[in-house]
This record gives sequence, structure tokens and C-alpha cells, in this order.
Amino acid sequence: RRRRISVPELSARKGGTPIVSLTAYTTPMARQLDAHVDMLLVGDSLGMVLYGMDSTLPVTLDMMIAHGAAVMRGSALSCVVVDLPFGSYQESPEAAFRAAARVMAETGCAAVKLEGGVEMAPTVEFLTKRGIPVLGHVGLTPQSVNVLGGYRARGRTGQEGNAIAADAFAIAEAGAFALVIEGTVETLARQLTADLPVPTIGIGASPACDGQILVTEDLVGLFSDFTPKFVRRYAELGPQVSAAAQAYADDVRARRFPGPEHVFAPKPSGSTPDA
Ligand code: KIV
Ligand code: NA
Repeated sequence: RRRRISVPELSARKGGTPIVSLTAYTTPMARQLDAHVDMLLVGDSLGMVLYGMDSTLPVTLDMMIAHGAAVMRGSALSCVVVDLPFGSYQESPEAAFRAAARVMAETGCAAVKLEGGVEMAPTVEFLTKRGIPVLGHVGLTPQSVNVLGGYRARGRTGQEGNAIAADAFAIAEAGAFALVIEGTVETLARQLTADLPVPTIGIGASPACDGQILVTEDLVGLFSDFTPKFVRRYAELGPQVSAAAQAYADDVRARRFPGPEHVFAPKPSGSTPDA
């Protein structure tokens, strides 16, 4: 690959090679991930993972734009998608367009993601018809935590399953280029993947989805306030950071750091003075 994967290229992966995606919030992390994934999501999960907030609701549009621009600077190959934060798009299609247009113009990202189903379909259509590709997000939608009453899995009853299916079809028919399905019963996510015309990207959904996404800090052990059932830990960087800090502290207290190689010598006498 020599250039970024485009939104239509992601859509064309329906039923094909799985779409690999991870979250990224910063330039250095984007640099590490870029060559290995198809899509980088600047998720509003950054509120909890980076800022220690207890939900995603306090995340602002300015925060998403700052982190979106940072991830764009750290990547050259992946398709970068930025979450629209709570309060920036739910009120009306016009409000959503203004927020999304700022995100697109100020970060250079390829698309935005928004949470919701049937009620957001007119907004998805409004944005896509005006040049803003939209990634949908159904099932467990963390911005609705206060309505849902927690982060429990969705679609366990037939009634809830039918509602999620209606949401998924409404968002796909409104023009979303793909759909994140989060925290949803496996059989339902599998059925939706078979029936929907656009790729599904699962998180706590199904291995049958057209792609998968995880929060990178969960994957590498840098966020351990809690570990959702659907996470597989591929590294334990948290304990490594802690061990490095302990070793540094020991060296400073014992005057083993800095060493002779870390300090600056004076200029030899007789050398020409600085201009
Ligand atoms: O904010 C986020 O990280 C997300 C993904 C988990 C899909 O929305
Ligand atoms: Na999100």
C-alpha cells in the first residue's frame, strides 16, 4: 500500500477479507498502528481511556477535532474515521452537518461515525448526500448509557433484537458505508451481517462480522479500569510502564542516573568562542 484506503474500498470489503480496525487517539499510537490496520477510529472512548471520564458524554467536538488531527498526522495508509461526540449531532440533521463538516475540514479525516438507529436515519442520509461519509453504530451505544441503564449486552430478547435489526437496516438504507455493531448477541450480529448490504464491524458481536474493532489500550493492556468480555489482551504494556518507572526511580535515588553518557561536557579550553 502507498496511499490511504478509501471509504468505497472499505464498503467493497462486504463478504470479503475482514476489515481490521483499531482505535487511535494520538500521533505516536497512530504511527505504530497505521501499517497493520485498514481503518483507524478516533473514538469518543478517549474520554474514558485518555481523560479518565466515567462515560463518553463529556467529550467535546473540540477534543475530537484535536485528536482527529493528531491521528491524521501519524498515519498515511489507513482510512481515518472520527466519532461525533454526544450533543453534536442528535438535535437535527443541520446540527450534525455543521459538526461533521468541522471534523472533516479541520482534521482531513475520511468519514465520521455516529451512534443511533431509526431516529438517526434522516441525519445519515442528510450527511451522505452532502459529501460526508457516515459509519453507523448500533447495538450497545455508549452515548445512550443513561437511557440503557448500563453497558450490558443488547439483543438478548426477541423484542430488543427486532429493534436493533430495524436500527441497522434504517442506517444502512440511509447510506451509511458500514456499521459498527457493539455488544450485541452473537446470533443476531451474524444474521445482520448476512442480511445487510454494507459491511458490519463487530466489537463484542460476532466473528462472522465483515470486520472487527477494539480499543487499542484494551488490546495492549494500557487501560485496565475494567476489561470487557469481548477484549483479547495481546500485550501487557501497563505493567511494563510501571516497571520502567520503578527502575528509573531506583536509579535516581541511588544516583545511578544520569550516567556519564547522558551529560554534556564543557568545550575544551582554547576552542573558538561562540559567535
Ligand atoms: O469510541 C470508540 O472507541 C468506539 C468503538 C469501540 C467502536 O466507538
Ligand atoms: Na465511540
